[in-house]
Amino acid sequence: MLAMPSVDDAKVMAARKSLEFVKPGMVVGLGSGSTATHFIRLLGEQVQAGLKVRGIASSQASEELAVSLGIPVIDFRTATEIDVAIDGADEVGPELALIKGGGGALLREKIVASAAKQFVIVADGSKVVKHLGRFPLPVEVIQLAEPLVRHRLETLGLKPSRRKAKDGSDYITDEGNFILDCACGEMNDPGKIAAEIRAIVGVVEHGLFLHMATRALIADGSGVRE
Ligand code: 5RP
Repeated sequence: MLAMPSVDDAKVMAARKSLEFVKPGMVVGLGSGSTATHFIRLLGEQVQAGLKVRGIASSQASEELAVSLGIPVIDFRTATEIDVAIDGADEVGPELALIKGGGGALLREKIVASAAKQFVIVADGSKVVKHLGRFPLPVEVIQLAEPLVRHRLETLGLKPSRRKAKDGSDYITDEGNFILDCACGEMNDPGKIAAEIRAIVGVVEHGLFLHMATRALIADGSGVRE
């Protein structure tokens, strides 16, 4: 009997499979988080072997990694369309509805995803859920509006708490904002929650990615499935 891959091995398997969607000459969206990091490393190997692609990064960390591996990194001044973006997710629900932002990069990740013709999710099997909501929904907010946004989120029945960095200080995103992680409970209507959160002035972005992913490559003991 085959041994079950570790979670990290599964992430690598999904990341490796996603390379099939990257073709020479493409502009590639580079996601953030540990699974996307595996993808960037594997892409770096391909670039070092001669593959010609350019990347648009969804976080400072991903950009630095890509540059260190020799992947040419551009931004939206050079290309406003991404051929394929590869990124991880915190939850993958029905119809490829996602929660993202566990790594704090949801704003740039969503910008990159919105520009992508194909948005491919890479994840281990633990990320697949029947209903979104087990993972706290990250909401990125302008710092000065945080108390106001927090109150409005509570009024919606959500339970926000401000994200802290490892050293106990406030977590600050690449764009200089706070994140409120919101316990939502099981979401029966993610579209409604997304619209309600978006309507709050001071919210920059939320981690619900609905109708954006074009496929999800999920790896577990039986291999990589879609
Ligand atoms: C970062 C993200 C990540 O894609 C998400 O948190 C999944 O991370 P990992 O691949 O480490 O499990 O949304 O903002």
